[in-house]
Amino acid sequence: MSSAFQHDVFGALWDDAEHGPRGDLTHGPTEGDLESAQQRKIHYFLKKARLRPGDRLLEIGSGWGAMAIEAGRMGCIVDTITLSKEQKIQADKMISEAGLPESVRVHLCDYRELPPSFEHSFDACITESFNKAVGYKSYGAYFKAIDWALKTDRATVVISSTTQPEFRYSEYQLVELLLSPTRC
Ligand SMILES: C[S@@+](CC[C@H](N)C(=O)[O-])C[C@H]1O[C@@H](n2cnc3c(N)ncnc32)[C@H](O)[C@@H]1O
Repeated sequence: MSSAFQHDVFGALWDDAEHGPRGDLTHGPTEGDLESAQQRKIHYFLKKARLRPGDRLLEIGSGWGAMAIEAGRMGCIVDTITLSKEQKIQADKMISEAGLPESVRVHLCDYRELPPSFEHSFDACITESFNKAVGYKSYGAYFKAIDWALKTDRATVVISSTTQPEFRYSEYQLVELLLSPTRC
């Protein structure tokens, strides 16, 4: 599925452009709306990353920018990467509306080609729902990239991933390949 097509499909499913379609994984169903569930999820991730104002955060897999913007609002310096031009355009617009262009930057960049200036520069890395874009053959490169980008002292990484029981793994690989053709 091309990223432009994904933009149209998922965009049609949302009320709010800043937030993705996922619900709250930590509190279960509530009477709150999807946006507040998404906010709770984002704050849970940011707390787990032990971020403080002034910290540098690398986010691998920007989505539509909600996590990066929220970290920027906390006073963090954020670099977030995506392969989707549509996501970058939309995230940049929302970052500008939030008054955060100095502290939140969206890069069109593959996780295997991070800029040299990122080496050992980040206090934390958050990478959410990204493993399907990686594929099991590239997990080594993925974890290596995270390790390379994090500071060597007191850094935190928060990874969320979808898992499947082993017996469903082959079918799942096929579905994921259709959804994330960039992986290898
Ligand atoms: C499933 S989305 C997850 C987005 C967000 N973290 C969330 O949970 O809503 C995957 C994101 O990773 C980006 N992506 C996919 N493959 C990538 C790669 N090889 N390098 C960098 N970003 C990639 C996509 O452009 C998209 O922003």
